[in-house]
Amino acid sequence: MSESGWHDFYTLEGYIAYQQRLHPSSRGVFSDILRRIGVASKIISSKVRMAGLINVLGKQGVINVQGEEQMKLDLLANDIMKTSLKWLPSISGLASEEDGEMTIFTHTDKFDGDHYIVFFDPIDGSSNIDVNVSVGTVFSIHRCPYQSQTIGELEFLKPGCAQVAAGYVVYGSSTMFVYTTGQGVHGFTLDPEIGEFVLSHESMKIPDRCKYFSANDSHYRHWPEPTRRFADWVRYGEEPRYEKTSSRYTGSLVADIHRNLVEGGVFMYPENEDTGMGKLRLLYECAPMAMLIEQAGGMASTGKERILDIQPTHLHQRVPFIAGNKVEVKLYEKMLQGMA
Ligand code: AHG
Ligand code: MN
Ligand code: MN
Repeated sequence: MSESGWHDFYTLEGYIAYQQRLHPSSRGVFSDILRRIGVASKIISSKVRMAGLINVLGKQGVINVQGEEQMKLDLLANDIMKTSLKWLPSISGLASEEDGEMTIFTHTDKFDGDHYIVFFDPIDGSSNIDVNVSVGTVFSIHRCPYQSQTIGELEFLKPGCAQVAAGYVVYGSSTMFVYTTGQGVHGFTLDPEIGEFVLSHESMKIPDRCKYFSANDSHYRHWPEPTRRFADWVRYGEEPRYEKTSSRYTGSLVADIHRNLVEGGVFMYPENEDTGMGKLRLLYECAPMAMLIEQAGGMASTGKERILDIQPTHLHQRVPFIAGNKVEVKLYEKMLQGMA
């Protein structure tokens, strides 16, 4: 710090460049993608901040491939993400929650570097848009082994452990960009005065305490019996570890995971016993969150299987999801498997 009290800081761009210098063989192609997502998320952030003024509240009147009604902001953010990424010659394909099919690019300019596929949930927590509660964006990046022209759905269906990067942006009381490339989890806060993401949370680690339990309690009666038992165990504090545990759930995965990552806790969207399914999507919600949570020292599971080990079978596949402190996720797995 200088005499005036001023100190230097890392912007997202600067930090990406710094991490890239640690890998002398890197050609910066992958960093370009992260930077573009950073720019897209600043644009989305500005739209979210003005949502009530620019006619983007409410429904679009279109049902997406998941059978869910699209909000105007879902579609706007989807366009912002796609237009920000599509011209990068290193990107072979994109897949979004809002598009039924993946997009495969056939770039005409010659490019012989590594190729990538990007998955994203442009606005996570859409049901919160109209009531001014935090929403987010989630992204996941995979290396693509082949040139664009030759890829198909198979290249999109890779397990989460093959991700080269994952992250989210939370449009909360401040906007934060949180990402990992497998070397820790780093968080940047948007300084709206200078329009830059500034490093505010380096090497984030989930504290080893269960401060928060997060689940949609209205589904309690549809959960399998061991899931109900786990929820009761954590919420009603039968052990000293859970004496001070509070329930917190916003309905935006990004906000719920971010809060628990900072404060400690467990989030779950378990299987519905009637349908045998979870709600959250593997490729652009659960897998990126699982990579972040593991990098922060936690665990993510279906209750039976590590999220990052699941071999996807289709683009919009849904899985049961529990993520947070290792202690709680392990306990849940044991209860579900009848071992506790
Ligand atoms: P999205 O808005 O991208 O469709 O995601 C909504 C997800 C997730 O953000 C959240 O955890 C969950 O759905 C909330 O679902 P419930 O309203 O059923 O609790
Ligand atoms: Mn979502
Ligand atoms: Mn969404």
